[in-house]
Amino acid sequence: MYELTGVTKRYRRGKATVNALDGVSLTVPTGDRLVIKGPTGGGKSTLLQLLGGLDRATSGSVVLDGTDLSRLSEAKLTRLRAERIGFVFQGFHLIPTLSARENVETALVPLGLRTAERRRRAAEALESVGLAERAGHLPDELSGGQQQRVAIARALAKRPQVLLADEPTGNLDESTRDEVMEVLESRWRELGLTFVLVTHDSSLARRADRVATLSGGRISLTERTRGPAGPAPAPPGPPAEAASGDAGQLPAGDVPSDDVPSGGVPSA
Ligand SMILES: Nc1ncnc2c1ncn2[C@@H]1O[C@H](COP(=O)(O)OP(=O)(O)OP(=O)(O)O)[C@@H](O)[C@H]1O
Ligand SMILES: [Mg+2]
Repeated sequence: MYELTGVTKRYRRGKATVNALDGVSLTVPTGDRLVIKGPTGGGKSTLLQLLGGLDRATSGSVVLDGTDLSRLSEAKLTRLRAERIGFVFQGFHLIPTLSARENVETALVPLGLRTAERRRRAAEALESVGLAERAGHLPDELSGGQQQRVAIARALAKRPQVLLADEPTGNLDESTRDEVMEVLESRWRELGLTFVLVTHDSSLARRADRVATLSGGRISLTERTRGPAGPAPAPPGPPAEAASGDAGQLPAGDVPSDDVPSGGVPSA
């Protein structure tokens, strides 16, 4: 579980100061999904970097399961990232000279696993995103959606607790977007990950139970109770099955809004 309290992030550019985050307080329970949207420059990527321990807050605390990330040494932070946090970015960041399997395996090197175990986990992760058949392909022998699925496999092969995705479908066309979102959603549900997703995909934002909007470094949170709010937003995949499947997994009224005492308070 993440607990953020009064988090600010200031960047200094010459004499000017940018308040990228301005007093963000937020709770993300273990296993929950939080969707973050908001205008460009609103602070979304900055927040994700703090959640992932890629950067440190200027003030306030970012606590993951009792550990304040801003107080960890660089070495401990690196270890925590390697073991517990999976990242997926808009650009897939695959190494062009390595096969899909090798790209996934590289993420496991910091864990000190034996070669055979790395192989096994990489194969398993690629299979879980539907790419077992493509393990030997180089990135440029794969479609955009497939490349992003390799990146998802790379993020998950370490078996993280947390998955952070920053506009993971931003570079993809519409049909591929749905394919990648479906993979992310199914992995999130099956693995019980704490999942924080930055996206401009408004149909996804409409379906999510908790949506945070970051604008000018300030956060506001919307809890969603599922009601008969007009026509159902188009879910990915074949309309009929996907719609019923989605409704089945997220029954009305089964929204954990009571579990998030501090998240709903817009930051001061
Ligand atoms: N390294 C940096 N140095 C200086 N300013 C920065 C730095 N990184 C981000 N900023 C500034 O912080 C603010 C928030 O940036 P951030 O990248 O978090 O926005 P974002 O919501 O992810 O935007 P986008 O939707 O365009 O990706 C912006 O004003 C940006 O210019
Ligand atoms: Mg961004």
